[in-house]
Amino acid sequence: MGTTIHSSPASADRTGAVNAPARESVLILGASSSIARWTAHAFARRGYDLILAGRDDDDLARLASDVRVRHNMGAETLHFDALSVSSQATAFGDAVRLAGGAEHLAGVVLAFGLLGDQRRAAHDSELAGYLVDVNFTAAVRVLTVASDHFESRGRGFIVAVGSVAGDRGRQSNYVYGAAKAGLAVFMQGLRHRLAPMGITVLTVKPGFVDTQMTFGHPGLFLVAPPSAVGEQIARAVEEQRSVLYVPAFWRIVMLIIRLLPQRIFHRTRL
Ligand SMILES: NC(=O)c1ccc[n+]([C@@H]2O[C@H](COP(=O)([O-])OP(=O)(O)OC[C@H]3O[C@@H](n4cnc5c(N)ncnc54)[C@H](OP(=O)(O)O)[C@@H]3O)[C@@H](O)[C@H]2O)c1
Repeated sequence: MGTTIHSSPASADRTGAVNAPARESVLILGASSSIARWTAHAFARRGYDLILAGRDDDDLARLASDVRVRHNMGAETLHFDALSVSSQATAFGDAVRLAGGAEHLAGVVLAFGLLGDQRRAAHDSELAGYLVDVNFTAAVRVLTVASDHFESRGRGFIVAVGSVAGDRGRQSNYVYGAAKAGLAVFMQGLRHRLAPMGITVLTVKPGFVDTQMTFGHPGLFLVAPPSAVGEQIARAVEEQRSVLYVPAFWRIVMLIIRLLPQRIFHRTRL
């Protein structure tokens, strides 16, 4: 970690002496994703150190030095493959160690995901299973470890990036959408479990975002920049929100799509 000054407020003990502000870190899983990197900058701007976890070590190292230079905050990297059982089991413990102890790991943002090719996944059970493994099973495994950490710490936040695709099964992306729907229900249950401790459990539901994932895909509309999405994720954590549609109008768009009667819905190519 760097030796920079953390922006958390200093606190006074019973003798009136002012303690040094506690440094707090945020773990970002899948940190080389476009949405994640902007989320990392948004948390660094708010005074958090970062632990950047993902598969592309070189890219993470570049992001870490960018965070240090731009925000004067600490940034560490962690090799993490969401599909590796050992990564799923150890990533969180490694992050606690890098943060300097359980007290210092304030939150986790799970950003990894894979859209995949729905036209292939519709007929290829290997691919369909793979998409569910990345987007759902791996997320459940890692967040189960994370949930115990925050439960015993008694405060903090857990963020998972889901998708509006999980709001209604559609022919264009229902394998990916089913995994994201499962993730949303898992987060809902986690929120229920951790609510008595005041732990924020936030599900982010982006619409179309201009990232590697959507690059070259036909038929996209109302595409948002990942920088705006990252900033809104950090703000939603500050506001202790439960579900964030981003941009916000997607809540209305998806409400309409959910309410479409089946006979009309089946005539669309959504
Ligand atoms: N872009 C959109 O329109 C959109 C809309 C709704 C939701 N989302 C969600 O937003 C999140 C971020 O996606 P993005 O749009 O920023 O796309 P992205 O740039 O393609 O990011 C996806 C990230 O997931 C990582 N990943 C995939 N498989 C992994 C694995 N086995 N282990 C570790 N990391 C893995 C990728 O790592 P590598 O670089 O190593 O491949 C990459 O960093 C995803 O959960 C996605 O489902 C995106």
